[in-house]
Amino acid sequence: MFMLLVIGLLVATVGTEAFTNPIAPNAPDPWMVSYEGFYYLIATSWDNYFSIRKATTLEGLKNASNTVVYTFDGHTGWAPELHQVDGKWYLYYTSCAPGTENYACHRNHVAESVGDDPMGPYSHKADLIDDGDPMELDPSLIKINGKFYLIASFIADTQQLYIRELTNPYTLAPGVKHMISAPTYDWEIEGGTTNEGPEPLYHDNRTFIVYSASSCATPDYKLGLLEFVGTDPLNITHWKKYPNPVFQKDEGHHVYGPGHNGFFKSADGTEDWIVYHANSSPDGVCYMDRSSRAQKFTWGADGLPIFGVPEAEGVELEEPSSEQ
Ligand SMILES: *[C@@H]1O[C@H](CO)[C@@H](O)[C@H](O)[C@H]1NC(C)=O
Ligand SMILES: *[C@@H]1O[C@H](CO)[C@@H](O)[C@H](O)[C@H]1NC(C)=O
Ligand SMILES: *[C@@H]1O[C@H](CO)[C@@H](O)[C@H](O)[C@H]1NC(C)=O
Repeated sequence: MFMLLVIGLLVATVGTEAFTNPIAPNAPDPWMVSYEGFYYLIATSWDNYFSIRKATTLEGLKNASNTVVYTFDGHTGWAPELHQVDGKWYLYYTSCAPGTENYACHRNHVAESVGDDPMGPYSHKADLIDDGDPMELDPSLIKINGKFYLIASFIADTQQLYIRELTNPYTLAPGVKHMISAPTYDWEIEGGTTNEGPEPLYHDNRTFIVYSASSCATPDYKLGLLEFVGTDPLNITHWKKYPNPVFQKDEGHHVYGPGHNGFFKSADGTEDWIVYHANSSPDGVCYMDRSSRAQKFTWGADGLPIFGVPEAEGVELEEPSSEQ
């Protein structure tokens, strides 16, 4: 009994602090950054604003206030992401212009922080729009060989991924967008022919894009992997698509439709983490019910990410490392 008590105290003081998923309810398309000792979580609002939760631990995000950092002239805001470039934070997002009514109104935009605080506040900086397609959504910023590109999704005959040259984080270069992935494998077309939510991932001088595939209204929404294997990011043949999904539903864990993710580092920069949304039921739909979840991931000997399976809700996971 005494020994058990001593061991219990040791475990408590050596300090494996724990958190449980989900870390935020009603928070689809999550994105997280760790910056100067804090975690910042932003997600789809489906409204005319975006808000951020800030805390020193993932568990602490649950009680953090959800502070509005940006309000825009429009509606149905989706898929916000924060990227820091030259001291400023850029908030990439998708929304509809005032007065428009259906989903096809979605286009990509970027807002800029006043200073170097991820909490902003933010003001509208630029529209990142290529005309001619029914919908553009899910913008992200990727840097390849020192140059910035916008990566995003668009609907043509199917929902595909594109890349677009930028001259800086908020200015489209002359030219057009280039398709770099269309849904072709069986696992990319369940319930809908969809590639969306492209997210940059860099490791050991290799550049990947992790993206979401199949319909977000099904339990089969999941993640796939692209790698830049050539010299021209605008050329689809210079991107390799891996033949199998890298992260998907786990029925034993009651996690359905995991996807539309972001990546972040532990506060001490040593660990790689993924933040993603999922449904708790196979009947879950593509709306605000999806919650944000996080877990650590590792890398294989082949240099590819190993995301494992989505962890069950309520299971204690170790907090990201924060030792300096
Ligand atoms: C969050 O708030 C609840 C209810 O007030 C409290 O029981 C819990 O300890 C808080 N958690 C953290 C991590 O602050
Ligand atoms: C990455 O590239 C740099 C510059 O070419 C090189 O010095 C370094 O060894 C490379 N790292 C890995 C892990 O390949
Ligand atoms: C794309 O890359 C392939 C292989 O390097 C090349 O044959 C083709 O001409 C390139 N297409 C364009 C439009 O540059």
